[in-house]
Amino acid sequence: MKVRLDSQTTAHQDLGPAIHVRGLEKSYKKLEVLRGVDFDVARGSIFALLGSNGAGKTTVVKILSTLLNADAGTVSVNGFDVATQAAAVRGSISLTGQFAAVDEIVNGRENLVLVAKLRRVKDPGRIADELLDRFGLTDAAARKVSTYSGGMRRRLDVAMSLIGNPLVIFLDEPTTGLDPQARIEVWRTVKELAEHGTTVLLTTQQLDEAEQLADQIAILHEGRIIVNGTLSKLKQLLPPAKVEYIEKLPTLEDVFFAIVGDDGNNRDDVARTASSARTQKESR
Ligand SMILES: Nc1ncnc2c1ncn2[C@@H]1O[C@H](COP(=O)(O)OP(=O)(O)OP(=O)(O)O)[C@@H](O)[C@H]1O
Ligand SMILES: [Mg+2]
Repeated sequence: MKVRLDSQTTAHQDLGPAIHVRGLEKSYKKLEVLRGVDFDVARGSIFALLGSNGAGKTTVVKILSTLLNADAGTVSVNGFDVATQAAAVRGSISLTGQFAAVDEIVNGRENLVLVAKLRRVKDPGRIADELLDRFGLTDAAARKVSTYSGGMRRRLDVAMSLIGNPLVIFLDEPTTGLDPQARIEVWRTVKELAEHGTTVLLTTQQLDEAEQLADQIAILHEGRIIVNGTLSKLKQLLPPAKVEYIEKLPTLEDVFFAIVGDDGNNRDDVARTASSARTQKESR
């Protein structure tokens, strides 16, 4: 689902983080999905929220983008409270949901022009053409979206989210289903956005994606953020390998499985799980 922006709300110029989340809780009937989620995202940074299937990543994104109400906790985006200032939040963000929200019955260019008009940007046609070119969709611009491949729809969806230069962009699994070239294009776009001051929160299950892109990486597991930090900080959670066993530095994947593996669901287990994983590897 894509949040449509009715107007570009004036930025809230406080010096706090772009996204502030404290004590966030959400249950679906008896299923407690979020059990006290806390994190901050600095302005102009890229924040990757990692987690297994069903961890609650999309639930977090929906709450932060005002599509879903939380049961408890405080969330502000661009200084606006998602519960009490939802319209102002929507005016300063854009969301590319996990499943593409493009209009199938019109063509690619018309989708972009429509969003540009809704967001009241100047010269919608020119903006649409620039984005079509940037995402390699110029040749398909006049074709109905119903004829697009999954990757093309995804690229169009991401392109639509850039219209109007929102201050914060939420991308829920932005590269799922993309071929390597399109994936790199999305990565490049995300990096460019952050360089120009946009704050990006993305979810992913692809650990290399978080490694490539994120200034900060948080792992959501069993309803809470169990690790949150830079890539180098996350790698430090593993004990340094003895020199005779080092073939390569631990990857983020090693960190992830050490933390959320079968019996390693908290920080105290990290070292033990990691060291046992390494021992098993060595004995193979
Ligand atoms: N509307 C709903 N009603 C009931 N349960 C839901 C609803 N939405 C999500 N859930 C459940 O909440 C849990 C978290 O779902 P969510 O979609 O947030 O996870 P996710 O981390 O985004 O997963 P994925 O990686 O598969 O996208 C899952 O167990 C899911 O089945
Ligand atoms: Mg999801």
